[in-house]
This record gives sequence, C-alpha cells and structure tokens, in this order.
Amino acid sequence: MENVTRRDFIGKVGTLGAVAMVAPTVFSYGNETTGIIPLNRKVKVGIIGCGSVSRMYLPHLSECPYAEIVSLCDIKPERARKSASEFKVTNTYASIEQMLAGVPFDLLVNLTDMQEHGRLNRIAINAGKYVWSEKPMANTYNEGKELTKLAKSKGLRIWGAPAVVNSPQFAYMANQINAGTMGILSAGHGSYGHEGPEWSSFFYEKLGGSIPDLGVYNIATLVGLLGPVVSVTAILNIVRPTREIEGKGTIKVEEEDNAHILMEHKNGAVSHIQCGFNYVNSHSYEGDENTTLSIIGSKGKMDMIGYDWYPFAVDIATRENPRFKRECTDRGTYVWQEGASVICECLATGKEPLINVDHALHVLEIIEAARASQDGRKRIDVKSTFKWPIVT
Ligand SMILES: NC(=O)c1ccc[n+]([C@@H]2O[C@H](COP(=O)([O-])OP(=O)(O)OC[C@H]3O[C@@H](n4cnc5c(N)ncnc54)[C@H](O)[C@@H]3O)[C@@H](O)[C@H]2O)c1
Repeated sequence: MENVTRRDFIGKVGTLGAVAMVAPTVFSYGNETTGIIPLNRKVKVGIIGCGSVSRMYLPHLSECPYAEIVSLCDIKPERARKSASEFKVTNTYASIEQMLAGVPFDLLVNLTDMQEHGRLNRIAINAGKYVWSEKPMANTYNEGKELTKLAKSKGLRIWGAPAVVNSPQFAYMANQINAGTMGILSAGHGSYGHEGPEWSSFFYEKLGGSIPDLGVYNIATLVGLLGPVVSVTAILNIVRPTREIEGKGTIKVEEEDNAHILMEHKNGAVSHIQCGFNYVNSHSYEGDENTTLSIIGSKGKMDMIGYDWYPFAVDIATRENPRFKRECTDRGTYVWQEGASVICECLATGKEPLINVDHALHVLEIIEAARASQDGRKRIDVKSTFKWPIVT
C-alpha cells in the first residue's frame, strides 16, 4: 500500500487550517516502509480517562487534521460529559465496555490511572483497536511485550508515551552524536522532579511512583541518545510516607517518591537519572532556562535547556570550540502532548512515527530493573533492545 503525502491527505479531507498542529519531525525521518496500512481518512478516536492530562490532549487532538474525536469515557462520567460539551464530542460512556459497544472508533487514547493502562489496552486491542497509551503502556515489561505481540497478531499497533524523541532538540543532539561530534560517548545525566500531584492517589499507590510518572522522560531521552541499556543499578526510597489528596484526605505512599538510577549502556557509556515527588519546584515550566539533561563524550558536551519533554535549546561545547554555544533554539511545532495526534497522522497516511514501541518497552524494562535492583540491592541485567539510533 502506498503512503499518502501530507498534501494529498489534506487535499482529501480538506482541513488545511489545522495542519501546523502535528510535528513536522515525523516527516523528517519517516521515509521507511511502514507496515502501517493507511486509513486514508481521519482516524476516529476514543479517549478514555478525562482527568488532568486530557486537558492537554483534547485541544491538540481537536485541532489535528487527521483525527476526529468520536467518544469520551471516564468512570467518573460527569468528567466525560463536561469535556464532551466543551470539545463538541457527541458520545460519552462510563466504562470501556460501554465505549466499545458504542460508536465505532479506530484508536483508543488511554489517559487513565497508570495501574489501569495494561488492562484497558488489552481489552481495546482484543476489540480490534489501535492504542496510544500514556506511560507506562503496561504495568510490567512482560505485559507490555504481550500486548505488543497481541496487537501485531491482529494487524494492529500499540504505542506508548512519552513523545520526547519528536523534539527538534532531541534530533539535534542525536545528529551531533551520529556525526561523531561528541567523540566516544561516556556519560549522561538527567533530573526531573516536582512536589508531586495532589489530585489523584494512584501516583503514590503500588505500580505508581515517580519513575513511571517522571523519570520515564529522562530514561526515554538518555536511552534514545546513548543507545540500549544492558544493566541497571538503583537506589529508590520514600521520603514522604503520607500525602494529602484532594477528595481523599491522607493516604499512605506505597511506591518510591525519590529515585536515582544508574544505567550501563551497551556502548559503554554510563548514565544517571534522578527523579522524585519531593523536588521543590523552583523554576517554572515556561521560560525555564535550566539544564536538565546532559551528554558527555571524549570530544564534547551537550546540555539540553529546559525539560526534555519541553526543551528550548541545546548548549554545546567541543574540544575545538570549548565555549558553550546555544544551538537549536526553535521548538517548531513540538509539544509533549502531541503523541496521539502524531499517531493519528501516521495511521491516516501510513507514515512510520519516530515513537517506537520497542523503545517504550525497553524503558519499561529499565523501570522494572530499577525496582528489582532496589529490592535485591544488586545490579540487574536488561535484556530487551530497540533499533538505535532512533534519528538517522
Ligand atoms: N497530569 C499531567 O500533567 C500528566 C502529564 C503527562 C502524563 N500524564 C499521565 O497521564 C495519565 C493520567 O494522569 P492524570 O494526571 O490525567 O490523572 P487523573 O487522575 O487526573 O485522570 C485519570 C482519569 O482516568 C479516569 N479513570 C481511571 N480508571 C478508569 C477506567 N478504568 N475507565 C475509565 N476512566 C478511568 C479517572 O476517573 C480520571 O478521571 C497517567 O499515566 C500520568 O502519568 C499526566
């Protein structure tokens, strides 16, 4: 099946106005034959989970020329109804079963509690749906792998957040590495934390925690830049044993809220990420000029400016040009909440996204390995891998 160009598609669906909403980065690298059979029409989207993050997805998907949101679902049905009236979505449901029995759709966008992702994604795939899942795409690596196999066996696909590989800053850093500007890759570091969500308890319950919620971004970026990981050592703990949650009162924190993870990459580089729900939020997200992630090699160093999910620029220094120079200051159309829209574009046109399920699964195995390392107080081997470099 032939891929459809963006111009062909826009011509067909006649929605020129909103074209700038989907990242051009997908097109910069998505030339390979895909395995995605293009739908050649707008992708019908059903969103499950109408809480905090849906407030970011809904506007983006509503503007995406490749998507039509046909249904919203939440076990708190008033949330689905409220968003439906705001974003002019006709159908709302109170369970995935009702949603699947209702108006037909192609892609499930799963924005529910982390612990629910694997279960709901499986139900959707079994019902013949493509899936875009917020992170993590499953509760365990094995569950994620099974879901991927299941999807494949049905001619479907599943993809998982985050979308960090789509930013121009990620591409810039990857291109410097590919060009050898950094020399021998030796080290990487990433840090991301805030004071922790107060609107839902699942972040602190078993299989929640700061790693799948926050550390996942730095892990995905560092692994994406430095390549697959072969072993992990971690120290995780809980520094605030209780939390006040809106509508629930005091709850016990059951999963780590403070984490340091060391990753040994296959090429010898060693990277470190730290994350937590007790990091004073001393800088705002907008206009943040701090370095949050660095790559060091024998010939150069690069600092990502801003968060890796919202980068502003890259500062680069090399042996030849040792003064840091600010590069790649244009974010383009990239935003972290674009993942489901990008997948709609790919399903509609047959383009292969940069976001890759093997990369998401590898990150999931690293998260599990970090927990095993803490539990067993030892270094844990990581077996999975993914196609690297991601940007070629
Ligand atoms: N909030 C953010 O800024 C943010 C940013 C990036 C990613 N995420 C990720 O998005 C996901 C959701 O986070 P959130 O902050 O929106 O949480 P939230 O609690 O605000 O929203 C989750 C919603 O899912 C609904 N839900 C739970 N189980 C369900 C089920 N079985 N069927 C239907 N609905 C169900 C809940 O009622 C709730 O409305 C998490 O994986 C989180 O890590 C959140």
